[in-house]
Amino acid sequence: MKWIIHPATQLRGVVTLPGDKSISHRALIHATLAAGTSRLAGFLRAGVTEAMLRCLRALGVQVEIDHDTALLVHGGRLHSPASALDCGNSGATIRMLMGALAGRPDMTATLTGSAGLRRRPMGRVIEPLRQMGAEIAEDTLPITMRGHSLRGIDYTLPVASAQVKAALLLAALQADRPTTIREPGPSRDHSERLLRAIGIPIVTSNHTTTLVPSSEPLPPFEINIPGDVSSAAFLFATALTPGSEVTAQAVGVNPTRTGFLDALAAMGAHVDIANRREASGEPMADVTLRSSELRAITIDGDDVVRMIDEFPVLAVVATQAEGQTIVRNAAELRVKESDRIGAQAAELRKLGARIEEHSDGFVVDGPARLRGATVDSHGDHRLAMSLAVAGLIAEGETTVLNVEAYRESFPGFDTVLRALGARIVDAD
Ligand code: S3P
Repeated sequence: MKWIIHPATQLRGVVTLPGDKSISHRALIHATLAAGTSRLAGFLRAGVTEAMLRCLRALGVQVEIDHDTALLVHGGRLHSPASALDCGNSGATIRMLMGALAGRPDMTATLTGSAGLRRRPMGRVIEPLRQMGAEIAEDTLPITMRGHSLRGIDYTLPVASAQVKAALLLAALQADRPTTIREPGPSRDHSERLLRAIGIPIVTSNHTTTLVPSSEPLPPFEINIPGDVSSAAFLFATALTPGSEVTAQAVGVNPTRTGFLDALAAMGAHVDIANRREASGEPMADVTLRSSELRAITIDGDDVVRMIDEFPVLAVVATQAEGQTIVRNAAELRVKESDRIGAQAAELRKLGARIEEHSDGFVVDGPARLRGATVDSHGDHRLAMSLAVAGLIAEGETTVLNVEAYRESFPGFDTVLRALGARIVDAD
């Protein structure tokens, strides 16, 4: 499937986004371990969360869908699956499942996924889980794990990764003593907030998290999941076209996730964050973006972690900013759903962007006049959507090939763009 995109101005509207992907994953897997029925309102129904749902159902968890985006999860009773668990293209699903299953002595499971997932690094989860006592035979997918009793560890992650931290915290819940996880940067803290909200003793300071396990199972809980700020990022970027104004209502503004909003503000964008409130331990707000002239910035250090998923769209925005936008210390981008440095640089160049690739980042010279061309998503949802945004900015017609991956995280993306006034046509 491909999109044909026409240039746009004056995109306007108020949007409610689908639920946050990271919080949806965490809520679902913790509800699975809880003894009783949990209610997850605003759950993201998309490819990656359906992958986790499918795996958990194969493990015996009963889930009812209530009004499309609320789930009732009857947790606590898991059994070994009859066949291999297919985690699709979802890194969060496989990594968090490894953590959740590592400490279940009664269970054996094989975990696998798409060709893309099999290329992604798993040693970063397997290694600390083995230190905790997990029995994992292989180093690459498919892997077979047999549950064991686990010991708490003190572990320093070589790379800040919230997926790895989430997996280790799930294992830590089942360990015999406290676990401490140290990270080199501020990765998203949704697991910590969720666990704290349901009463688990967890202490965080200075990128270090300590969890004290309890002999009691997790209690069931209710959660209201905010809109996904990473999905909102594409809409915020479209709002930078002349005369545009886009508001995302009830979107998550957890400070470990708002690096892109901060970057836009530093570039001179009009960012208005109103009506701040909290739901289930997570901050949310109504965020409005208005078009303006932009200037280049440098993104480095902790800010990289706080906007790790937004670099494909940041690269598009940077083509319209005056000066040189520099991204450093972001080598992680090369092991996401695609090589987001190499692939995005190659595609944006086809549209006329001046973008130079580095081993751990990229440099964009702006402003550049983008011209419509045919570009490819590389099967990566965030490339598909960011290239669609580039198409709205470019002169003439842009064709984005292989876009179906957008359904992995934001199935309504094209519908929302049309509602804002964009011309985006589906084609085979
Ligand atoms: C996620 C963490 C990030 C992010 C991914 C979701 C999470 O991955 O890129 O989309 O839910 O914890 P890493 O933890 O591997 O950086």
